[in-house]
Amino acid sequence: MHDLRKLPGDRILVSPSLLAADFARAGDQVAAAAAAGAEMLHLDVMDGHLVPNISFGAPVIKSLRPGSRLIFDTHLMISHPLRYAGDFAAAGADHLTFHLECDDDIDATIAEIRRLGLTVGLSLRPGTPAEALFPFLDRIDLVLVMTVEPGFGGQSFMADQLPKITAFKREIRRRQLPVLLEVDGGLDAITVTAAAAAGAQVIVAGTAVFRHPGGMAAAVAELHAASAVLDRDL
Ligand code: DX5
Ligand code: ZN
Repeated sequence: MHDLRKLPGDRILVSPSLLAADFARAGDQVAAAAAAGAEMLHLDVMDGHLVPNISFGAPVIKSLRPGSRLIFDTHLMISHPLRYAGDFAAAGADHLTFHLECDDDIDATIAEIRRLGLTVGLSLRPGTPAEALFPFLDRIDLVLVMTVEPGFGGQSFMADQLPKITAFKREIRRRQLPVLLEVDGGLDAITVTAAAAAGAQVIVAGTAVFRHPGGMAAAVAELHAASAVLDRDL
């Protein structure tokens, strides 16, 4: 089951970010994340251009694919997602999220990802208003709200992004769109509560999962626990 549209809509879903894993043991770490109860694996691809850091690309995803049945939730922090979408599809990504701030045409990139048979998401930096993304909401499967400046793991959660999460939640609900709301950056057992209460359902967490002193199962359970505040009235 590699389709995020088929995941339950009434509870928190956890997408551990590989960026915080030990790359020397990447396959084992991904297997451990799955055993810990995570629903997805978040793969942060950075090109050193859209964001000031370089991470990994399609070959790493291709190596991990045969060893995992998790949904590969790929976050493309790259200037040219249209050019590279085919490579990531061929490598085994299930879902591609790209940035509103990229250099490619947004509609053409959405169309290309759909043509490749993958689900598609759009993300936006903390400084970009939610309204800039609203016109594309009826053509995508997921919105990824950044709660840190994209580029690095281990940063602090930006609470000033909470109103943006709620703005998306309200807009998605008002238009009755089947769009998942994901949040990324500085999420842990504490900050997840505010993010979920604001309307986020999919929680990306790198440091809090792969470097949790109590182990990954405890980490994922702490994040899942925020399901309790998920669907309150907004
Ligand atoms: C940041 C990435 C995040 C990052 C999250 O640019 O998009 O996915 O890995 O890391 P933590 O959970 O450590 O903030
Ligand atoms: Zn990410």
